[in-house]
Amino acid sequence: MIDLHCHLLPGVDDGAVDNDNACELFSMAVKDGITHMTLTPHVQPGRYENTRESLDAHFQDTKQLLAEENLNIEINIAGEVRLCAELLGLYAEDNLPFIGTWGKKKVMLLELPHSGIPPGSDKLVDWLLARDILPMIAHPERNKAIMEDIKHAAPFINRGCLFQLTAMSITNDFGIKAYEVAHQFLNNDWATIVASDAHNTKHRPPILSKAYQFLVEQFSNDVANTLLINNPRKIIST
Ligand SMILES: [Fe+2]
Repeated sequence: MIDLHCHLLPGVDDGAVDNDNACELFSMAVKDGITHMTLTPHVQPGRYENTRESLDAHFQDTKQLLAEENLNIEINIAGEVRLCAELLGLYAEDNLPFIGTWGKKKVMLLELPHSGIPPGSDKLVDWLLARDILPMIAHPERNKAIMEDIKHAAPFINRGCLFQLTAMSITNDFGIKAYEVAHQFLNNDWATIVASDAHNTKHRPPILSKAYQFLVEQFSNDVANTLLINNPRKIIST
């Protein structure tokens, strides 16, 4: 399985705290059957001052760490970019991190604030699309406005955005509402990928096998493979 949203790069956000903790998390992922992880630290000006450039240095250290510890997992670096006005400046300095591509567009993991959808979000998505950047909305099932009414996802659906659901939402480990909304996305065929959004070993672990198994049982092998293997692979390999 391929995990395109996780916080395993140590010391840069609220994910892995240090190298030992990162190794613990990578070991868990390997045991779970995850073969590739794209590390997506928070990029949120004012809170997590990460940029494409600053993360790259940390990434090289982590790559070396994995080699030293004989941890057999492939990694890439990107970021989870919070929807904010500063995004325009990051674009201007070529400091936005991208996960990969979809069609001819670069894919950027875009995080909405949990509290709702800021006015003008649709305009920002238009601005990104005009620059051949396709947002992949991180865990829409955990956004309060979308949880209240799925219609609030319409501006993103209508613009062709991709959607990443979180594994623990699908398996009802993030509360019933996130579960229900995640399943609305699945039933409507709106989900592009499922990822762990792992932060730590206890409450938000790098585990995808439970969601994979759930999708096999409740949907089909095809759906599980599309969301956890084939679509993630398509994004990182094109
Ligand atoms: Fe995240």
